[in-house]
Amino acid sequence: MSEYLPGLAGVPATKSNISDIDGQKGILTYRGFPLEQLAEHSSFEETTLLLLDGELPSATSLADFDMQLKKNRVVKYHIRELMKNLPSRGHPMEMLQTAVASLGMFYPGKECLTGEDFCENLNYVHDMTVKIIARMATIVTMWQHLRNGYEPVNPRKDLSYAENFLYMLTGKEPDPLLAKILDVCLILHAEHTINASTFSVLVTASTLASPYSVVAGAIGTLSGPLHGGANQKVIEMLHAIGSPDKAEEYISNRLKNKEVIWGMGHREYKTKDPRAKILQKLFRNLIEKRGGNINPLFEIALEVERICEERLASKGVYANVDFYSGILYAEMGIPADQFTTIFAVARSAGWLAHWREQLADNRIFRPTQVYIGSGIRTYTPIDQR
Ligand code: COA
Repeated sequence: MSEYLPGLAGVPATKSNISDIDGQKGILTYRGFPLEQLAEHSSFEETTLLLLDGELPSATSLADFDMQLKKNRVVKYHIRELMKNLPSRGHPMEMLQTAVASLGMFYPGKECLTGEDFCENLNYVHDMTVKIIARMATIVTMWQHLRNGYEPVNPRKDLSYAENFLYMLTGKEPDPLLAKILDVCLILHAEHTINASTFSVLVTASTLASPYSVVAGAIGTLSGPLHGGANQKVIEMLHAIGSPDKAEEYISNRLKNKEVIWGMGHREYKTKDPRAKILQKLFRNLIEKRGGNINPLFEIALEVERICEERLASKGVYANVDFYSGILYAEMGIPADQFTTIFAVARSAGWLAHWREQLADNRIFRPTQVYIGSGIRTYTPIDQR
């Protein structure tokens, strides 16, 4: 009998050449490029193409890909109508999962359900990938208006992915600095090896289900507070703490009650998450550009991180990506319950790169189990129990 490892910790689920983590040194690379370099020099569009194709694109390929994304930003009227019928108080991640699953009804891609050959057709895979990545941003921002009783803002073709996201969200010309910060956030969240939601991508993809089912399943997996949902929990925690001087008591109480500190810890990193470092730097830049005007939540966050380092570093628990992303999104005026949907928008790039990789060398996932139930028994009729 093979050894059972809870949470499959350390068990390879696939071979992949998309991204890599050195958890001891705190290094994350996409296709071999350190994340810091991509955050500084690349754009979400370019990083997405790098994740999908494996190489940095030429200027022509990038411009072509950018235009394909722009052309596919509009979603069908019927999807808007469907979204209007969802309860306005529902969580945006539930909405996103519903809307993405419904794309499969309106833009069918059923060939994947039956024909292995078709799945291996790269043009088809690329086309589906563009459609989903382009429309995810539209759906998320549409919801912000629809749930408040307003008509959504139509996408524009003259703006980058991040600029257009902010434009559709607010209806105003995007602030270049905030758009740049959002672009970096999208790059940082685009991919992260075989985490829970990406594992769900592999499992669903391996059945040759449609890419909409693949991504809808991953959105559901990402929504949990132990995964992408942690960024919303972090902001709620910082609000609950209220001021830096209350942080010590708050953390002590949670640790005493064996509760986690949101935004801390990671299965892979035994040092500070490199994405958290980049986000912290972005926040400091933003403060500088705004003449030192500091969001009080940032000061609380710094204090929480300091205390957690004292208490949890011995267990290899440090700040992760979700610890600072929420504070930045709050600065952009994005409501806390939309933080995880932005994570999903960015991660759709990585998910679909893994979908493509899985299809290229597919075998259906069918793990085994360690059965710990009863031995064979004889059925007792109900009147004799
Ligand atoms: N707060 C307090 N203690 C934590 C912690 C946290 N956020 N994360 C891990 N620990 C502790 C565990 O209690 C455990 O302590 P023990 O050895 O005394 O029992 C030890 O560190 C190892 O943690 P473990 O639960 O085995 O790690 P994991 O790899 O199974 O879980 C996470 C990883 C991410 C699920 C976990 O760190 C967590 O719940 N973090 C908070 C949620 C979060 O921010 N998620 C976003 C991840 S990007």
